Amino acid sequence: MSTSRTESRGTAAKNTDASGREQWGSQLGFLVAAIGSAIGLGNIWRFPGVAYENGGGAFMIPYVVALLGAGIPILFLDYALGHRFRGSAPAVFRRISKKLEFLGWWQVLLCFVIMTYYAVIIAWSLRYVFYSANVAWGKGSNAANHFNNFIEAAPAPQYSLAPVWNVALPLAVVWIVVLVAIGRGVSRGIEVANKVFLPLLVVLFVALVLRALTLPGASEGLNALWTPDFSALKEPKVWLAAFTQIFYSLSVAFGIMLTYASYLRRRSNLVGTGLVASFANSSFEILAGIGVFATLGFMAAQQNTSIGNLEGVQGIKLSFITFPAVISEMPGGAIFGVLFFLSLAFAGITSLISLVQVVAAGVAEKFNLRPAASAMAVGIPAAAVSLMVFGTKSGIYSLDVVDAYINAIGVVASAVLVCLITAYGVRNLKQLQRHLNFVSETGNLVGAWWRWLVGVVVPAFLSYVLVSGIVGYIRNQYDAKSYTRGFENAFGWGSVAVVFVGALVFTLIRWRTPVDDFEPISLEASNTGGAR
Ligand code: ALA
Repeated sequence: MSTSRTESRGTAAKNTDASGREQWGSQLGFLVAAIGSAIGLGNIWRFPGVAYENGGGAFMIPYVVALLGAGIPILFLDYALGHRFRGSAPAVFRRISKKLEFLGWWQVLLCFVIMTYYAVIIAWSLRYVFYSANVAWGKGSNAANHFNNFIEAAPAPQYSLAPVWNVALPLAVVWIVVLVAIGRGVSRGIEVANKVFLPLLVVLFVALVLRALTLPGASEGLNALWTPDFSALKEPKVWLAAFTQIFYSLSVAFGIMLTYASYLRRRSNLVGTGLVASFANSSFEILAGIGVFATLGFMAAQQNTSIGNLEGVQGIKLSFITFPAVISEMPGGAIFGVLFFLSLAFAGITSLISLVQVVAAGVAEKFNLRPAASAMAVGIPAAAVSLMVFGTKSGIYSLDVVDAYINAIGVVASAVLVCLITAYGVRNLKQLQRHLNFVSETGNLVGAWWRWLVGVVVPAFLSYVLVSGIVGYIRNQYDAKSYTRGFENAFGWGSVAVVFVGALVFTLIRWRTPVDDFEPISLEASNTGGAR
């Protein structure tokens, strides 16, 4: 059972357990933070385009299969690992077996790389809130020029060291907000930030979707998105797209949910929270699909064309070129633009906080630092990398390549390894299944099906995804039309190498806290929740 007492190292009163480990203020605080982490840039700019290009309405079939068959089971695994072994990712894997600490640092370094470019996209969004207020890009094709001028895009993808000061300023704001949240600790910082930003996001985004639905042409946009093309289901790439979307969107296998679950009280409903967080995330994703395609329907109607002829329905182009172009055509476009870019910034910031916390928690535990000190130790180098690698004139190119390699290789490798190691390397799945049922008091809800999915189906499928991803990038590159092989080697394979070497180095450093001095929750007192 948990107690609340002043932390042994003498900081001001905050929520801690008997061992002095920080805790969420409440189960609701954890739920809000888990949803805040899941709902991010990926929901708003990734899902609508992915669904549209992969069968429209029919995409929901592989999407739901991926959600139930892989996303939720791996989310439960992340929760169970973090909650049972109560630590940052490196501490959790070390407590399972000393040989596994590297896997925890692998996740920490993944988050480090991702957060350095994720922050830059949020900084762009923040700057665009102000540009939207007076529709600074004007009419017509100026939206693309405006964006390129704003980020001072280099004409070709070659590394430039020159930071873009227009980006540096909002980037500094983003890092300050995130580091204040992390530095204040789990319940007083992260929980409070999520409780502010998530409701704001929902209110703004619902207002945006309602406005989008009243635009002329909105229904054609929705028809284009949701008209099912069942023949797409025969294509493996559509199934791959669904699984990748679910992993990215739920933030699983990054160490995020593992870290967040480690701050829960001992008796916590992991299963119920996981289900609510997953369905909230998918609901927001579908709402984003509706909002984005209603808006694109309006754009197509204005240009007297069909949605199929529009370009840039996904990612950076969707947000920073296509949407600004629509905004300048729309009555009340300035308000719509402010709503859209504020939504992107708020959705992004809560996900960024969760990415940074994975790194800050690992560093705090290894080097025995307080939250404020670990926030600075992580935040200052991360902000510098953000600015010097992604906030430069070539940032748009390096960002695209790093994102592709880190997700397709780094995150998928992490998921495969975690599943295989817990299932076969240390044979921990039965114990984790009992843990989930015991602490959640859900009887035998998590049954043998969960072990089967996590131990067999998901790793088999993801191994295929990983191998085909690696082979594809080696043979054909990620995007040979846009980038030279040298550029992809430097940023794509280079970022994977940074994760590998960084993980190795941190594994070799000595712990300054008694990490191995740890007793997991006893499952013996229970007569419910036994593994079947
Ligand atoms: N889950 C976060 C997103 O969707 C990373 O952007």
